[in-house]
Order: sequence, then C-alpha cells, then structure tokens
Amino acid sequence: MKKILIATVKPFATAAIEQMKALLDEAGYEMLLLEKYEDKQALLDAVKDVDALVVRSDKVTEEVLNHAEKLKIVVRAGAGYDNIDLDAATKNNVVVMNTPGQNANAVAELVLGLMVMMARNKYNGKSGTELKGKTLGIHAYGNVGKNVARIAKGFEMNVVAYDPYVSSEIVECDGLKDYENVEDMYRDAQYISLHIPANEQTIKSINYDLLKLMPENAVLINTARKEIIDEDGLLKIMTERPDFKYISDIAPDKKEEFESRFADRIFFTPKKMGAQTAEANINAGVAAVKQIINFFEKNDLTYKLN
Ligand code: 3PG
Repeated sequence: MKKILIATVKPFATAAIEQMKALLDEAGYEMLLLEKYEDKQALLDAVKDVDALVVRSDKVTEEVLNHAEKLKIVVRAGAGYDNIDLDAATKNNVVVMNTPGQNANAVAELVLGLMVMMARNKYNGKSGTELKGKTLGIHAYGNVGKNVARIAKGFEMNVVAYDPYVSSEIVECDGLKDYENVEDMYRDAQYISLHIPANEQTIKSINYDLLKLMPENAVLINTARKEIIDEDGLLKIMTERPDFKYISDIAPDKKEEFESRFADRIFFTPKKMGAQTAEANINAGVAAVKQIINFFEKNDLTYKLN
C-alpha cells in the first residue's frame, strides 16, 4: 500500500484533511499526517519510507530528499515552490509539482482586505481614504494577479499591470492597461501589489530606485515573498517619504526596525495568511492528492516542475 505523507508546519483546515483522506482511502493509499512539527528531524524521520509527500511552505531540502528512500513525488499544495530543492529532487528521481491557481482567490481577497484596512488607518477611528478611483498596479499577472484585478475592479479602481511573461492581449482583454516597462507602472500607480515569485532574477528586485518612482501616498502590498524586497531600500524610501506605506503578508527580516520606526505605516500578518482559508486548503490539498493519484495510476505529469 502506497504511503502519502502530508507534512505541514502550518496545518490544512480539518475539512481539507477529511477530503484528502477520503480520496486517498478510495484509491487504496495510506495517508500519514505530520502537522505543526517543530524540528527538521521530525520531517526527516517521517519521510523515510513514504512514496509521496504533500507540503505547503515546508522546506524540502536535499537532506530531506536524501532521507526519503522510496519517495517518487512531492506536491507543493500551493503556487510558490521556492521551498523545494528542484535540483536535488531531480538527482533523486523525485518528481515535483505545484497546484497553481488553487489558492489564488484566497490570496487576492487578502490583498484587498489589507488595502482597505490601511486606507482606513488600521481602523483607528480617524478619517481615511477610499480605494475607488485610485490606480492599482499589479506586478505579475498570474493567477493571483488576475484575481486581484477582478476584485479591485469591483472597487472601481483603475487597475493596470506589468508582466513581461504575459502577452498584452491577455492583459488588455481583461480591460487593464498593460505596461511594457515596469518603471512606468510604478510611476503611475499609487498602489502596487506584488505577485512575482522569489528566484534569482527577482530577489531584492523591489528596490529603492523602483519604489522612489511611486506617486504620493504610495502603498506597497506584498503577499508574495519577503525575499523579493530590498529591505534597506524600502527602509530608505520610508525614511524619506512619510507618505509611503508597506503592507505585507510576510514580516520582513528587519521587522523590529520597521515596527519601531514606522508603526502607523506598516502592517505585517503574524504568519503567512494568504492561502489560509478553508476553501483554499480544500482546493490545494485535494488538487495535490488527485495529482499524486493520477501520477501513480496514469503517469500524469501535469504541473511537473523539474
Ligand atoms: C503559495 O505559494 O501558494 C502561497 O504563498 C501559500 O503558501 P502556504 O501554503 O505556506 O500558505
């Protein structure tokens, strides 16, 4: 009987686990659950004789992969796969997949929720501003970016986008102005929402030179990855510009400095909350399990990343 390990420091909602288990039971596979584990050793021990692994942002390092003697597939139940060592997986003949789009609406709803909260001064009772009529620049028009655009249009925001990997036709077909040049979008958009992955090209790419272009009362929203921000550059622009605000679903490394210096102009969730809804957990968890079953039963390699 194949063993499928669900290893999540940040657990799935109970309803998601129930649906994942039902699918695995039906396929004749055994589901093992490792939740809220506190040290790496727990994961190393748990992967030893499993055939498949489902994770969220859990780190699947070369060490983990080397410990997993029977492992054939890892599915990252979510979009970003910067937590998985793809080269080490390939070396170990382990297929890696993600479940793109499954948690996109959850992240997008959080983006707008955070924006409203900041526009209303974190609900401190003072007069705030509205989103209607303001320009929102979407930096990367993938699954999350598209959902942010859809919801922001409901707020009657002027939504624009920049994504060098998505054709203008696609962006314009959704009724958005498409920018060819990232600087131009930053110049025009009071709000910028980041949806780029963390990789060699993007790490620290959101830097002082880019941020200084943003117009008055700039608000930067980061529900992507903390690594894409050049924190020194962000600290510099926030020092120079008392109108500049930063909202993030991931606390920066220099969290204490941001909090002590710019308390009214920042907000960080206590842990990554974007995909933390029952619906997103069900979507991503069920998709992960289905992909594993289809991989073993039909050699289906859809969403293979390596
Ligand atoms: C993703 O990349 O899918 C999101 O950042 C969600 O990550 P999480 O599963 O750790 O909440």
